[in-house]
Amino acid sequence: MAPDVFAPARLGPVTVRNRTVKAATFEGRTPDGEVTDELIDYHLAVAEGGVGLTTVAYLAVTAEGRTHREQIVVGTDTEKGLARLAEAIHGTGAKIAGQVGHAGPVANGRSNGVHALSASRMPSPLSMQMVHAATEQDLIRITAAYVSTARTLVRAGFDVLELHMAHSYLISSFLAPGLNRRKDRYGGSLPDRARLARQVARAVREEVGDAAAVTAKVSVSDGFRGGVTTDESLDVTAMLEDDGHLDALQLSGGSSLMNPMYLFRGETPTEEFAAAMPLPVRLGMRTPVGKRFLKQYEFHEAYFLDKALRFRERLSMPLMLLGGINRRETMENAMVLGFDFVAMGRALLREPTLVNELIAGRQADGICIHCNRCMPTIYSGTRCVVLDDSSAL
Ligand SMILES: Cc1cc2nc3c(=O)[nH]c(=O)nc-3n(C[C@H](O)[C@H](O)[C@H](O)COP(=O)(O)O)c2cc1C
Repeated sequence: MAPDVFAPARLGPVTVRNRTVKAATFEGRTPDGEVTDELIDYHLAVAEGGVGLTTVAYLAVTAEGRTHREQIVVGTDTEKGLARLAEAIHGTGAKIAGQVGHAGPVANGRSNGVHALSASRMPSPLSMQMVHAATEQDLIRITAAYVSTARTLVRAGFDVLELHMAHSYLISSFLAPGLNRRKDRYGGSLPDRARLARQVARAVREEVGDAAAVTAKVSVSDGFRGGVTTDESLDVTAMLEDDGHLDALQLSGGSSLMNPMYLFRGETPTEEFAAAMPLPVRLGMRTPVGKRFLKQYEFHEAYFLDKALRFRERLSMPLMLLGGINRRETMENAMVLGFDFVAMGRALLREPTLVNELIAGRQADGICIHCNRCMPTIYSGTRCVVLDDSSAL
């Protein structure tokens, strides 16, 4: 029999009160790179609203690994705030995950004041600077930074560490043949391109043991020519499964750098996005090339399901279905199809209490309309703009 999506479940060494997860949506509430009361309130809203696990997004392992300078770099300076955040979430009965990442070529080097790094040298459309190719020394340093981040987060009381391996962030840039032209042991064949992902997963697991669950957000397809295809990602995730260091995979897709709309589907808020960008990027987005960057993909419920099912067939480890989940029926069907958790981003931005509403039977569906106008708000405090509009009535 399929598990009850609203009953407690194990995620590695952690027991979660139900199988719903608030997916990482960068909060935009850390102007000084520190935990704020606003950040705590943002996560309290979904935790009090019933989710099993909320994900803090994202927690950079190094300064050049932030997407821009207003992000938390995990370390001794930020540990106290992170512990305060974890304690507040635990007070609701929910568990807390930290999305642990290095933005690689998605980092804005100009904002960070330090050059972005990727698998190979490339121009950055975000900073109008060159992104440098990471040296082997950089990779040693960054792997060590993942380890110290994991140690700090466990000390701060985090239950789950979600390693960001998708969306063209650093690890994902190594996986993608079009972004990785390296001639060393981190480039070329798929096992070599997957070396960094596997090295980081192993190092983090060796550090935390069973003091926390370790998961990864991976791509079912990068959605651009030169990105990781579904076939390749099936092979990479099979390698990660064989290595045995991860407790679950969250199945995402797309690229924040090359094809962001593949991640989201639904309306493309080009004007709102352009308005939130610095002037050169804003002008660039209004050109034909810029318009091609924000493609249009029709939204449909659980839009990654077809691809995710191929991962379910190939892998035996726990999987989290993500992408366009709004309905109780979709969640229950995901359980029937063998997924272990369901993760939601926008549905919970729209209605932080959705899970409690579903549990109480007061609603069967969420009411998010996938206008995607929440996306550009990451620069000014991530929120549902429809909710803003309706509360202003
Ligand atoms: C405003 C916003 C911010 C996001 N920030 C992140 C992020 O920091 N890290 C990440 O991995 N995904 C991020 N995402 C992607 C979501 O985690 C999720 O993959 C995507 O929204 C699809 O799920 P949904 O249909 O349930 O919203 C973000 C999404 C939105 C809407």
